[in-house]
Amino acid sequence: MIQIAPSLLSADFSRIADAVRTVEKAGADLIHVDVMDGHFVPTLTFGPALVAALKKVTTLPLDVHLMVDNPAEMIPLFAEAGADWISIHVEATPHLHRDISAIRRAGRKAGVVLNPATPLAALEVILPDVDFVLLMCVNPGRGSQPFIEASHERIRGLRRRVEERGLAALVEIDGGVNLDNFERLCDDGAQVFVAGNAVFGRPDPAEAIRTMREIAARKERR
Ligand code: DX5
Ligand code: ZN
Repeated sequence: MIQIAPSLLSADFSRIADAVRTVEKAGADLIHVDVMDGHFVPTLTFGPALVAALKKVTTLPLDVHLMVDNPAEMIPLFAEAGADWISIHVEATPHLHRDISAIRRAGRKAGVVLNPATPLAALEVILPDVDFVLLMCVNPGRGSQPFIEASHERIRGLRRRVEERGLAALVEIDGGVNLDNFERLCDDGAQVFVAGNAVFGRPDPAEAIRTMREIAARKERR
């Protein structure tokens, strides 16, 4: 099953509840929330209060992508606020198992994120312990950047590793996903698609979701 996770980073922040309702109605599966701390990446975005507020406007799971240093400090705050999926960067913590366990203990789905230049080998030990892996296909920090082409091979490689080992981790991708590369990314084996600009940067975000859904449905029927 292919899942679509619109990223609120590209939504109109003055009308964020409307943005969530629009994509929920159009068939989104998750809401992707990009948390940036001004250290791990230069920008500041959302905190736990926003996550708690989003819980009031949607029943979709909130997929909280922590682009923060010291994720251990943030995990309990976001879990408490109602984050359903929580992912942390391997580049941001020297204690991956401990932090992943903290997410799991809080009853949330736990994911690890890899920047585009971090080798897949960094996942070898942690892979059996995560619910999903988020592969960055741009350098984290902002939306609307071009897809890094080398990511295709990485997506295929990750999916292969998960299957060869008989594991359950889902392959999620983030950055540069658009209506032109969506089909090829399905073929690569991506299962959860984050999309910011390709949804909210368009005049009709609902239409963009529906188009992705149609492509996904075609692939799933095969
Ligand atoms: C980038 C964020 C992404 C971002 C993707 O640091 O993690 O979630 O919103 O934006 P697009 O889809 O526009 O590349
Ligand atoms: Zn993200």
